[in-house]
Amino acid sequence: MSYLTVSNAMKRFGPEFMALNGVSVAVERGEFFTLLGPSGCGKTTLLRSIAGFNDLTSGDITLDGANLRIVPPHQRDIGMVFQDYAVFPHLSVFENVAFGLKPRKVPAAEIKTRVTQALDAVRLGAMADRLPAAMSGGQQQRIGLARAMVIKPRLLLMDEPLSNLDAKLRIELREEIRDIQKQVDIATIYVTHDQEEALAISDRICVMNAGRIEQVGTPPEIYGDPQTRFVAEFVGTLNTFAPGAALDAMLSQLGLSLPGATVWTARPERLGLAARGGDTGGAATLEGTIAKFTYLGREAHVQVETPAGLVVVQIANPGMTLTHQPGEQVSVLVPREALMAFGADNIRIGG
Ligand SMILES: Nc1ncnc2c1ncn2[C@@H]1O[C@H](COP(=O)(O)OP(=O)(O)OP(=O)(O)O)[C@@H](O)[C@H]1O
Ligand SMILES: [Mg+2]
Repeated sequence: MSYLTVSNAMKRFGPEFMALNGVSVAVERGEFFTLLGPSGCGKTTLLRSIAGFNDLTSGDITLDGANLRIVPPHQRDIGMVFQDYAVFPHLSVFENVAFGLKPRKVPAAEIKTRVTQALDAVRLGAMADRLPAAMSGGQQQRIGLARAMVIKPRLLLMDEPLSNLDAKLRIELREEIRDIQKQVDIATIYVTHDQEEALAISDRICVMNAGRIEQVGTPPEIYGDPQTRFVAEFVGTLNTFAPGAALDAMLSQLGLSLPGATVWTARPERLGLAARGGDTGGAATLEGTIAKFTYLGREAHVQVETPAGLVVVQIANPGMTLTHQPGEQVSVLVPREALMAFGADNIRIGG
């Protein structure tokens, strides 16, 4: 049995709105498990149900084999970190972290040891006596993390802890959170709606949509092998070819026919560009005209107007010479492996 299990969780708000509509997840010991999904899909609701701040309408939650739903929130031994830093401005860093230990009647000497350890883990050891006002957003969020960890929780829950930070700090701190989590080895459920953050930080990602789970998998599985159209579109960028003669011609060039496939898609980085009539290397071609060329340094995004709609092609390492002008006639190269097909129910078809 997994360390944490949630089985068929339902949460209804009001007479009929289902914020969770049959959610089941299993998290392993020491795992970094991320809930990823758009605003309103139920991520916070699921986290709060695990913490005990709201009770499920129905369903089961177990932690380490025992029923968690009957345990009052303050006895669940779960550490939480929120989006806003929630630090006490009038307390020092040390006192902020020690705060969680007070109601647990931990002896003073042990408080000192544990707070010092927690502060060292988040690299705030040298700032124990400071007041939070004199610290950056990233440092304040690390106080929150230390406070959650100091109680030696059985589970760590983090609800968008980085969303109030600027982009550069967000990337730095996400690496730190990942390192600290692996070091303390506490099973963690992390909530984000930032797909890149989820890919960077997680052992596994659970993609949610409208109160349901779309797919659970490792980052490469979620990005490279999405099982639903929602996952493919939410994680990464996706070209969807307009149905019609151009798409049919492309599929017949590749000798591809998948019964039931109604939607054909491809990621921009799996496509290529060639001069009209150039070598296609076995790929199908889609003739088009460049609408826009965006140089981004390590890559370039090329928008090509084709009979199958506007197609984005991502070119790696465009360098100084590989530029394209709007109006240029090109062939979009579509290798067979680039194509992902979905049925009318938006479920992936084929491998
Ligand atoms: N106490 C409540 N009463 C009524 N509806 C609620 C309540 N809490 C949440 N909801 C609704 O349930 C749905 C899921 O909310 P939730 O906060 O879990 O979303 P989320 O995935 O965390 O979104 P975000 O990324 O914006 O934080 C939303 O439609 C929300 O409006
Ligand atoms: Mg939320």
